[in-house]
Amino acid sequence: MADIAKKPIKITETILRDAHQSLIATRMTTEEMLPIVDKMDKVGYHSVECWGGATFDASLRFLKEDPWERLRKFRDGFKNTKLQMLFRGQNILGYSQYADDVVEYFVQKSIANGIDIIRIFDCLNDIRNLQTAVTAANKEKGHAQVALSYTLGEAYTLDYWKDMAKKVEDMGANSLCIKDMAGLLLPYTATELVQALKETVDIPIQLHTHYTSGVASMTYLKAVEAGVDVIDTAMSPFALGTSQPATEVMVETFKGTPYDTGLDQKLLAEIADYFRPIRDHALDTGLLNPKNLGVNIKTLLYQVPGGMLSNLTSQLKDLHAEDKYYEVLEEVPRVRKDLGECPLVTPSSQIVGTQAVMNVINGERYKMVPQQTKDVLSGHYGKTVKPFNPEVVKKCIGDEEVITCRPADLIPPQLDKLKEECAKWTQQEEDVLSYALFPQVATEFFKYREAQQTKVDETVADTKNGAYPV
Ligand code: CO
Repeated sequence: MADIAKKPIKITETILRDAHQSLIATRMTTEEMLPIVDKMDKVGYHSVECWGGATFDASLRFLKEDPWERLRKFRDGFKNTKLQMLFRGQNILGYSQYADDVVEYFVQKSIANGIDIIRIFDCLNDIRNLQTAVTAANKEKGHAQVALSYTLGEAYTLDYWKDMAKKVEDMGANSLCIKDMAGLLLPYTATELVQALKETVDIPIQLHTHYTSGVASMTYLKAVEAGVDVIDTAMSPFALGTSQPATEVMVETFKGTPYDTGLDQKLLAEIADYFRPIRDHALDTGLLNPKNLGVNIKTLLYQVPGGMLSNLTSQLKDLHAEDKYYEVLEEVPRVRKDLGECPLVTPSSQIVGTQAVMNVINGERYKMVPQQTKDVLSGHYGKTVKPFNPEVVKKCIGDEEVITCRPADLIPPQLDKLKEECAKWTQQEEDVLSYALFPQVATEFFKYREAQQTKVDETVADTKNGAYPV
């Protein structure tokens, strides 16, 4: 074992992104976040994760907020803290692959609007799907962090992770993240994994996990002892359950040791005081389901991420088939195996989950097959670690052509056409990117935005005329 230097551990705070995505369906508004930014900026976090993942979609779709505007406000407020985002490789923040010109432009605009660190992952761990985003981040002088989607299975040996880590370093990543979206990484496995990766690469290693299965704090402890450089935590009001371990708890754990974060507990307590009423309100309204706060041991049995569990529950509820829950849970690993034993993370988690629901509901496997499943099986999301089940391929896509190249090599440039399509609505250069990812949702948002502006103009006109609105 290499001699690991003991050093202060760094913290990435997730309350403005993953924590509320995991616990309250990404519904925290910019207005709720901004008043505490100044205080958070004084903490001395390694970074604050505040953008990307589902925040982009949820802002436009549910909150009727411009995600770019939110980012700029964060940038204004966080004067000393690095801002971090989560990026789905060639899928950007969406659910299918985009042309390189869209990926590059998205990275460019994210950095131009204030992002410092882009955490880039691929739902199949296909390295080819990461390269465009990594190169673009390098070019824009951003920090490109590549995240390996952690999962379990025959193919996922220590050698597999070491080999992946080496490739990540070679492709120009500034740091590496082990992204454990389901909380599957156990404490002693973390020791082995972190040690092995530390021996393999020189770039810093960050660990991201979820509390879902109840082991996350212990996993962090062992990972830190094994030499991990940064851990992801969430302020206590939005910690635990399907979210991350609590920031204050991890800070206290390492106090007075060589791993001491140096963060001020008094300041953290004031920040927690700010978020607690937001949590209480979310509990009162039902937005925060107490079920998401407990230990869900099924996640270890079925290896299903917390977010996916709640998706499955709501899909089955819509279909009035809640009694099929356990059947579906048992079908998930089978579908995953058919689909090359891929990790379960957006969008592969949705694809596998939806297919599992259909297989169970229809009483026949792969009787109904959504386009996205077909796209996986024809290679349009990339290469999986194991081959697909040939019988399933035959049943789902027949003789359709299967591609083996990097999928985006077959996607011609899209940006010019997209710009034309949404020209009518655009008020800023970034709008085309919102439109590229979610054409319908973005258009609805653009219409809403225009209507609001008209309303404000009318109010101003009325005010000028002396007719104050009541
Ligand atoms: Co996460």
